[in-house]
Amino acid sequence: MSPPESSRVPEPPSDSDPREILRLGIEAADGPVALACSFSAEDVVVLDFLLEVAPAARVFALDTGRLNEETYEVAEAVRRRYGVTIEWHFPRREKVERLERGKGLHSFRESLENRHECCRIRKVEPLARALTGLSGWVTGLRREQGVTRTDVKPVERDEAHGGLLKINPLLEWRWDEVWTHVQEKRLPVNRLYGKGYPSIGCAPCTRAVGPGEHPRAGRWWWERPEHKECGLHRP
Ligand code: ADX
Ligand code: SF4
Repeated sequence: MSPPESSRVPEPPSDSDPREILRLGIEAADGPVALACSFSAEDVVVLDFLLEVAPAARVFALDTGRLNEETYEVAEAVRRRYGVTIEWHFPRREKVERLERGKGLHSFRESLENRHECCRIRKVEPLARALTGLSGWVTGLRREQGVTRTDVKPVERDEAHGGLLKINPLLEWRWDEVWTHVQEKRLPVNRLYGKGYPSIGCAPCTRAVGPGEHPRAGRWWWERPEHKECGLHRP
């Protein structure tokens, strides 16, 4: 149920209030919209704004099978606080079994190709299922996260997923703004932030960072910055 190709994509200034970006994006989507929630601080802030703007908005999450226990704790805290149903999506069982039986449990460290294969099975294919029937999806992407995110727009047509609208309300927020909002609203956040993890993905592909390191240095730390994407966010 993606919006017709002819429908206008709103172009709010990317430093607009996140609620304004959400309002414009949701209106233009003109159909069901859901937040893709990884339970990062960014995503919990977006959820907080989203439920203010659109109380009936949906929330989905991709359970890769390799998430940290701390991430599940946040998911439960969010579910309790907001009373939302979290629509969990799992990878296809047969594909995970074939991968793990054939290549073991850490194939993603052996080559970029293997890493993409794992992300494709555990994240990208489940995302495609999660997006089925939606007119728009909302993310917690921020531009300062890395070189792969320089060209993102606050509202854009997601050609990689059939042309539905992608809404990125926190695009220009800096980390200190995210953290201030978290504290002001006492939002549930991942305990790993307190242990030196500024960016949190799957457990075996995320480590803590040292002083002065880039916040995403701990994601797929053995890869170059331009490769630090899992395929959920293709240009
Ligand atoms: S990733 O591509 O490097 O893994 P990142 O962790 O920065 O992505 O998250 C960017 C956005 O992708 C999040 O704000 C969220 O909208 C979406 N996302 C990432 N991981 C998941 C997940 N497991 N479930 C749902 N959405 C996710
Ligand atoms: Fe697999 Fe790591 Fe990608 Fe998670 S982040 S899907 S474990 S390669």
